[in-house]
Parts: sequence; C-alpha cells; structure tokens
Amino acid sequence: MYKSEQLARSIRALIENGSWQAHSKLPSLREQVQRSGFSLMTVLNAYQELEAQGLVYSKQKSGYFVAGNLATQELAHHPETSLNDHIEINSQVFNFLKAMQDEDVVPLGSAFPCSDLLYNSKLMQIIAQHAKRKRSYLNSDSMPPGNLELRKIIASRYSLQGIPTDANDIVITSGALEALNLSLQALTKAGDYILLQQNIFYGAWQAAERLGLKVITIPEHPQHGFDLASFEAALNQYPIKVCWLMLNTHNPIGFTVSNEIKFEIAKLLHEHQVYLIEDDVYQELYYGVQKPLPMKYFDQHNYVLHCSSFSKTIGMGTRIGWVHVGKFSNAIQHLQLMSTLSASTLVQHALVDFLSSHHYEKHLRQLRLQLEHNKQAFYQFLKAHLSQDCEIYYYSSGYFLWIKLPEHVNSTVLYQQLLQQRIAIAPSSLFRLDISSQNFIRINCSFDLDLSMQQALLQVIYLIQHQSDDC
Ligand SMILES: Cc1ncc(COP(=O)(O)O)c(C=O)c1O
Repeated sequence: MYKSEQLARSIRALIENGSWQAHSKLPSLREQVQRSGFSLMTVLNAYQELEAQGLVYSKQKSGYFVAGNLATQELAHHPETSLNDHIEINSQVFNFLKAMQDEDVVPLGSAFPCSDLLYNSKLMQIIAQHAKRKRSYLNSDSMPPGNLELRKIIASRYSLQGIPTDANDIVITSGALEALNLSLQALTKAGDYILLQQNIFYGAWQAAERLGLKVITIPEHPQHGFDLASFEAALNQYPIKVCWLMLNTHNPIGFTVSNEIKFEIAKLLHEHQVYLIEDDVYQELYYGVQKPLPMKYFDQHNYVLHCSSFSKTIGMGTRIGWVHVGKFSNAIQHLQLMSTLSASTLVQHALVDFLSSHHYEKHLRQLRLQLEHNKQAFYQFLKAHLSQDCEIYYYSSGYFLWIKLPEHVNSTVLYQQLLQQRIAIAPSSLFRLDISSQNFIRINCSFDLDLSMQQALLQVIYLIQHQSDDC
C-alpha cells in the first residue's frame, strides 16, 4: 500500500468514528507532515484522495474540511457524484472547432443548425438598411448593459412566459457564451466548487478550466434527465458555489426536464443558497405547442442567472446573447467593459426592428417545423441502418441525436477516423471527462437528408461496425 493510501485510511477512520466532525478543519498540510512523519507530497496526495472520495473538501487559502452530511451517505464516496479538479479540455475543443471550419468537412458534429435555415432574408434586409445609417453605428446606446429597446423586447418575452422582467434585469452580451462565462466569472474565484451535469456543453468545461474551478458532476437520470437525489447529495456533501445546468433541450443528450423537477431544483438552490447559471440556448426549438419554462420561472429568490442568445435561431454570426441577471448586473457589466466592451451595435439596432415586427415569430415557426422534419428523417435513416447494439436517444426538440455505440467502440477514435474522410461528428469526450463510457456520439440533424448526407451517415455507420468487428 502506498504511504498516502495508508494515511488516507487512518484519517478516514477518524472521520468514520466521529472523532472529526462534519465541517471541522483537518490539520494543515504542514501540521500533518509533523504529526505523521510523512512527506508533504504524501500528505497532499492523501488529502486529495479523500477529497476525490467526497470525504473532505478544500477551501482556497483555508485548507481541508470534513465533508457535510456523511452519516446519511454511509461515509463512502457517493458513487453518483464525482470530483474533477484537473480539467484539460481546451486544446481538444480547439482542434475540434478548427476542424469544423473547413468547408469541405461534412458538419455532422457542428453545434449550430444548418445555415440555410437561419439567416432570415428579412433580417438581412433590415441589417442592410441599418448599415447605411450613421446612427446605427453610434455605440452610446448599445454599450453595457446593451440597447435599451432590445432589452425591453427581451424582457417582454420573459413577461409573456409569466416571468415578470424589467429591461434593467437584462445585460446584452456577445452570444450566450459570453453571458455564461461572465456569469461564472462574476460568481466564483479559483478553487471554488461548481456543479455540472456529467454530460454538458464543452463551454462549461472550458470555463471551469480557465477559471481554475473544481467541478462536481452528477449523472443524468435515465428517465427524467435530471437526478434530483444526486443533486441533493452533492449539495449536502460539497460547498458548491454555483451550478451550471441545461434543463431544456439538453446539449448533448436532448432531454427537457419536467416542471415538477425544476420546482424542486429551485427549492434546493434556495435551501443551500447556491446560484444557478442556466444555459437555455435551445429554448425556442421545441416541437410542441408550448415553450418549455426556464428555471427562472421557478426562482422566487433570485438564485438563477438565465443565459440565452439568437445564435440557434437566426445565426451564430449575429453574436447577440443576453443574461437575465438580477442583482449581478453591475458585476457582469464591469467584466464586459474589461473584455469585449459591447455586443455589435449595428446588429443590436437591426434586431430591435426585426423582433418588434412579426418576422421573428414567423421565422421561428418555420424553423421548428423544418428541424422536426429533418431530425425525424435522420432518426428513421439511422434506425434503419445502425446495428441493434446501438441506441439512439430521440427527444422532440432541437436538432441533435445522441447515440450510444457498443461499449468497446471508442468515439474519439471514430471521430479521428471519420475526419480523415472529411466527416465530423462530436465524440462524447467533448462533453464528459471520465474516461469510461466514451462510446457516445452527437449528430447534428438539422440538414436536408440528401444523397451526400446519406452517404456520410453510411460511412459513420460503416466505421462503427468496423470498430465493432475489430474487437
Ligand atoms: C449549449 C450551448 N450553450 C451555449 C452556446 C454558445 O452560444 P452562442 O453562439 O450564443 O455564444 C452553444 C453553442 O454552441 C451551446 O451549444
């Protein structure tokens, strides 16, 4: 047994027999070196091992503490939650996004809907008109928190959903990514714990890596999408500062969480005084009659920062997003003025005209119908051609299919093989960090399933089969 394991065991015994109570401070690293006679590295490894097991947690500059509520968790690492404190995903995402920039690559891995369905001709006309007016470039009324008329329109869209909102609650950003990143930066400091779903948009992992945060993940619930019991266990066990969650048309899996569960999440956030950054970029891409409610609707105590954008509905090139931010408006604006300054003045002006006419609603209706049609076509095609040992997750919103491949198929290897043939898919390693269960892929189904797309899909299927045969 390694010395660090030996030390971790003896500390664990002290916690188990109640000698060290929940939230009491462990001896500092130096004290422990003196007490145990082990080296600093051995003590550090032992503490980190206990942290990974969920038995202790650390606070920046304060040291290590016994985790809370251990009695109800049988003093063991909760098998459902896991700690990720060495995140290294940025270069993988960089290479993935760079590969997608080549126009000859079939973009089945892209995060954006097919551009033919976006860039609305009426919007482009309006942008062209604004481009000729000097006033449209004056940035005095588009600097943070953003164009007032645009904020009023966005606020009224919240109010229509039963979420009373004022223009001052909104900060306009350069896409949702800036809204999400600034929110996380405003609410955390290096070394803090945040909570993510086990599978989540890679932007969340990138932000955590950049800000030096420790990430606790909870697994998805096989039926409900969100696992409330694991969520509550993680909140009890770790001093979580912020959660970053997707509950509507989850990326990459696709599920939408029920209102009952959202209500319970809001209760737990309030009880534990934990903030939630809600990524809701697919909110408009539902197929049913009603737009799903965001967590903001259930948030009676202002713990939710709701982030979204127009990237998935009228095109990511518009780079206009926002955050429903409440009392953090000033903090976010401070960070924005230090970085991007403001979102495009011209596009903000043009969006005011576009959104205040009926063009946007008409565009959204057509977009939803087209996406539903294309996703169904992909689903039927894949169901007919994929082998029985693959499982396709179909949810009626958005434009992704999440596919479980046979367990021995490594989706990153598959991604690399397909890229050599100029086809891009999104492997699960972009969304989840654990090295087990890397046999999932995300496919973008927003395209017309024409002959060349069918050939690309058949190539994907062939290589999945090929990897299976090799095993
Ligand atoms: C889940 C999710 N959140 C946020 C973003 C960023 O969106 P935007 O282009 O508005 O910055 C994306 C884009 O791919 C996404 O898929």
